[in-house]
Amino acid sequence: MDKYKLNDGVEIPSIGLGTWQSEKSDAYRATLAAIACGYRHIDTAYAYENEDAVGRAVKDCALSRDQIFIGTKLPSHIKSYDGAKEYLELSLKALGTDYVDLYMIHAPWPWIAPGTDCTEGNIEAFRAMIDMKAEGKIRTVGVSNFNGEQIDSIIAATGVTPSVNQIRFFIGNTQQPIYEYCQKKGILVEAYSPLATGKMGEVDKIGEMAAKYGVSFAKICIAYCLQKGTLPLPKSVTPARIAENFEVGVVISDEDIAVLDGIKGLFPRPYRS
Ligand SMILES: NC(=O)c1ccc[n+]([C@@H]2O[C@H](COP(=O)([O-])OP(=O)(O)OC[C@H]3O[C@@H](n4cnc5c(N)ncnc54)[C@H](OP(=O)(O)O)[C@@H]3O)[C@@H](O)[C@H]2O)c1
Repeated sequence: MDKYKLNDGVEIPSIGLGTWQSEKSDAYRATLAAIACGYRHIDTAYAYENEDAVGRAVKDCALSRDQIFIGTKLPSHIKSYDGAKEYLELSLKALGTDYVDLYMIHAPWPWIAPGTDCTEGNIEAFRAMIDMKAEGKIRTVGVSNFNGEQIDSIIAATGVTPSVNQIRFFIGNTQQPIYEYCQKKGILVEAYSPLATGKMGEVDKIGEMAAKYGVSFAKICIAYCLQKGTLPLPKSVTPARIAENFEVGVVISDEDIAVLDGIKGLFPRPYRS
């Protein structure tokens, strides 16, 4: 399956290129390389400071804007209606486009103050996003790093269920409570850090599984995310890896999925939801 259908009917390409920590010039080249080998979905954020480079690559590639799905994010410290409107405009300007395909609240609280109760601010920001969707500036609205309670409060206040929750999700760290909550609510989980920001290459059990299937550790990680019904966002600035990550070409057996499900507690990061 090369696309998922979101709860509002919007279709989203089932693998996206991650761009966190990609410098502008790398983000530009990586986006062009990704599109050339078949990616149709790029994940960025205002906070990554590379939206302009991603936008330039989308303009410079051989495809038209409507053939590429761009997801970006409202900075984590912006927790107001007007702030959300203002920062979307900044992202649109940087990307050089008049709409984004997916706009997400980057985190339920400012990264510098994890645990802060921003319920009202998240609701206000989300209301602005719904209005900007109605204006045609956003095709679908989502969140990132939210837990079930935080999503419930948005749904209760606005009547709109986010289409996506982008969370840290990889073998050995699948955040089961929020993963299951999203499955139940029809919210697509976007799996960020599907390679545990590259650290999965050090895990023996993943290496063994990769050897069994005759593929790289990265392909096992990405196939696992897809087989769990999530949308992996592997990041790379290396053309050969960008291609490798897209051409997954492996289906893990149910038995081996169960083995991978049994791996627990890899690379925890307790301060985020
Ligand atoms: N919403 C959020 O709060 C949030 C947080 C984190 C990430 N994200 C999103 O999710 C994306 C992915 O997460 P991530 O950046 O943490 O990392 P990741 O995709 O889990 O791993 C990226 C790292 O693995 C390396 N790598 C990539 N493909 C490889 C391959 N085939 N073989 C060996 N090494 C490989 C990359 O190196 P090279 O680049 O040098 O090739 C890079 O060091 C981000 O870029 C971002 O778009 C979102």
